Amino acid sequence: TVRPGTEPVVLPVTRTAVSLLPGAATTMLTFGGTFPGPTVIARPGQVVDIDVVNELDEPAVLHLHGAHVAAAHDGHVRDLIPTGGQRRYTFDNAQRAAHLWYHDHLLMRTAERVYRGLAGSYLLVDQAHDGLGLPNGDERDIPVALTDKTFDADGQLVYDPVGHTGFLGDVVLVNGVDRPVLTVEPGLLRLRILNASNARPYRLGRADGMPLVQVGTDGGLLATPASRGEVEVWPSERVDLLLDLSRMGDGDRVVILDAGVGDLMAVDVTGGPAEPAILPTSLGPAPDLDPPEVVRTITLDEHGGRFLLNGHGFDDAIRDVYARLGAVERWRLVNTTSFGHPIHLHLVSFLVRQRTSSGVALPLRPEDEGWKDTVLVRAFETVELDARFADHLGDFMYHCHVLEHEDHDMMSQFRVV
Ligand code: C2O
Ligand code: CU
Ligand code: CU
Repeated sequence: TVRPGTEPVVLPVTRTAVSLLPGAATTMLTFGGTFPGPTVIARPGQVVDIDVVNELDEPAVLHLHGAHVAAAHDGHVRDLIPTGGQRRYTFDNAQRAAHLWYHDHLLMRTAERVYRGLAGSYLLVDQAHDGLGLPNGDERDIPVALTDKTFDADGQLVYDPVGHTGFLGDVVLVNGVDRPVLTVEPGLLRLRILNASNARPYRLGRADGMPLVQVGTDGGLLATPASRGEVEVWPSERVDLLLDLSRMGDGDRVVILDAGVGDLMAVDVTGGPAEPAILPTSLGPAPDLDPPEVVRTITLDEHGGRFLLNGHGFDDAIRDVYARLGAVERWRLVNTTSFGHPIHLHLVSFLVRQRTSSGVALPLRPEDEGWKDTVLVRAFETVELDARFADHLGDFMYHCHVLEHEDHDMMSQFRVV
């Protein structure tokens, strides 16, 4: 964990041996020598400089996913750090408290580079939220990155994406560990789940059948805690879960599982007893935006075995949308393909307004609630979202966050003017 002060955070991009499996050293690409990279914890409004030093023999670039940031610091695919080079990214963090994450964004190479380790969490923690009684930027507030990997007999990573689904690994790691056990005292525990996998969606639940309590999403806290039997998390989505362990005692265990994979992690309770926790009933204001002044249609297409946006691959000469600075726009994402795509917009947080299929309205997903930066558009669905294109001019990317789709070739850009 890094809590930046006035000095820049230095993040070397390196090739490093990391211990993922017992008895093996796996060669990875890292930000800062660990996998995941160090968690950066800052306050909304705090200016943070990150100096990325590229020690690889190929270019590197850092993107802070979920940041409302000036285009020059957004990790555009044309803003590369050459081998041996260094670059300072400045984040003014003028946005709500939320779980952001940083990752590499090399054009047509993002999938393999993120798979090999170039990712980490970045928490914006607001002290004004201390009064809610939730763990808040402390040792009971834990970023949990889910990634799926395949290993060879020597414990080295295998990367072989096949077919249309994107890469699916054999083993799901939780913060780089296979089925970790976390031991804590009774009380509340906040798990900030990040799906940092290339392509695998998770359907999270508790092994004991008790509901999960979701308190936050991509863009920060929900207006009220939501009880969910299962929580679906697509690549790059974040869900902030609250476990009430206050009524548990020494030796009790809570297991978090994925509906397809099985057990992911366990939390063991030790010590106690504790005071029963009181969960807040309200977490903050309901999200709100003015009505959109323009409606855009963006198509998700498939051509010749590749997925595309608006019928074309990434072309730095093409901007699909010119958005007026400060305007609220409605984007209709029309999926003409038989695959689901988690679509991510840089720069903005948005609200999911509507889902339809063949003109028939569908219920929103529970996970659509709150400020989002990635939304699942299921096969043949149309999703409408509203966003305000503030506070920065310039070019920003948007893309599918199944990283193999992003690379080939489901990425494009918009310009704020
Ligand atoms: Cu995680 Cu271009 O984004
Ligand atoms: Cu992003
Ligand atoms: Cu996709």
